[in-house]
Amino acid sequence: MDLFEYQARDLFESYGVPVLAGIVADTPEEARAAAEKLGGTVVVKAQVKVGGRGKAGGVKVVHSPDEAFAAAEQILGLDIKGHVVRRVMVAAGASIEREFYFSVLLDRANRSYLSLCSVEGGMEIEVLAVERPDALARVEVDPATGIDEEKAAEIARAGHFPEELIAKVAPVIVKLYEVYTGEDATLVEVNPLVLTAEGDILALDGKVTLDGNADFRHPGHAALEDAASTDPLEAKAKAADLNYVKLDGEVGVIGNGAGLVMSTLDVVAYAGEKYGGVKPANFLDIGGGASAEVMAAGLDVILGDAQVKSVFVNVFGGITACDAVANGIVGALAKLGDGANKPLVVRLDGNKVEEGRRILNEAAHPLVTLADTMDEGADKASQLASK
Ligand SMILES: Nc1ncnc2c1ncn2[C@@H]1O[C@H](COP(=O)(O)OP(=O)(O)O)[C@@H](O)[C@H]1O
Ligand SMILES: [Mg+2]
Repeated sequence: MDLFEYQARDLFESYGVPVLAGIVADTPEEARAAAEKLGGTVVVKAQVKVGGRGKAGGVKVVHSPDEAFAAAEQILGLDIKGHVVRRVMVAAGASIEREFYFSVLLDRANRSYLSLCSVEGGMEIEVLAVERPDALARVEVDPATGIDEEKAAEIARAGHFPEELIAKVAPVIVKLYEVYTGEDATLVEVNPLVLTAEGDILALDGKVTLDGNADFRHPGHAALEDAASTDPLEAKAKAADLNYVKLDGEVGVIGNGAGLVMSTLDVVAYAGEKYGGVKPANFLDIGGGASAEVMAAGLDVILGDAQVKSVFVNVFGGITACDAVANGIVGALAKLGDGANKPLVVRLDGNKVEEGRRILNEAAHPLVTLADTMDEGADKASQLASK
């Protein structure tokens, strides 16, 4: 999950990273009140999860509450690279002497952490990396030892910080690393990190990505989620504890085991080519215990997707045998009643497959068709979806 700048700012503050005061505002009136509270020069900043807001007119320096009102009026509703601004942050203005760049991120390819650092910050990092590759230091960070003051100094030196700034910037880098590990982030980026006219180091813009796999360790992270932009079906699935990802297609897919579901998506996409480019509508792994409750919850989410025209249930019976899954499907359909209104193609294989098929045949639900193989099921479901 990516955080908004104001959320990153709050996290930074709680870890002792030097930041400026910031107040969020959803209306120009609130922006005016925030500017009044902060006093002096303030910066009105669009809160969207995309970089380059400054260039797009989403960051404005103003000198009075009325100017803050006017700036917020301009920025709210602005479309920045496809993200519409719904909220601004009014931040205290800094007198910037120099702008730097620092980030630490998960380096998957090298199974390590990587820090990027440059004394030439401010401009977009992608641009810096292309135009001034020598100015951007890449320093590996061993996850076992992390970033202490010594390592931080090494990173700053590699980024060509002048010697007189090393002692000032190193403790801030250490604190940023504490945010990174303490919050189980996969990215902490500050651009710009600045030196002010007063000689202070400040994080003026923060980008943080949190690792959703570690959510269980951070009960507070749920509150950081942006409910307004989460897909309603994904939110519903999450509430039901389902592993669901919405895709852009017509064939709903339910399977057990992530690997099987992934291959089912491929097979459906392949079969769908024959029927005018029908595609899978979602990823949904109901895992080991394919009970009636889980099956019903899964079907409920998938059938709630207006794009879905048919559903392919592809289950390989293991510890949860096919008879239990078949009973789950029958129970789910009974539970959903009129809510179940799209054709279901079911392919069962594995443990107790005969019993499973018998149960479905005997139930003879008008919406259910049995398929013997995965290819056959994908073909049938795609055909039904194309009608
Ligand atoms: N609080 C602030 N005080 C003064 N200038 C700021 C402040 N915040 C941002 N700026 C200036 O605006 C530029 C762009 O802001 P930034 O927050 O980095 O947005 P983005 O990276 O999305 O363009 C910064 O490089 C900095 O020069
Ligand atoms: Mg920035």
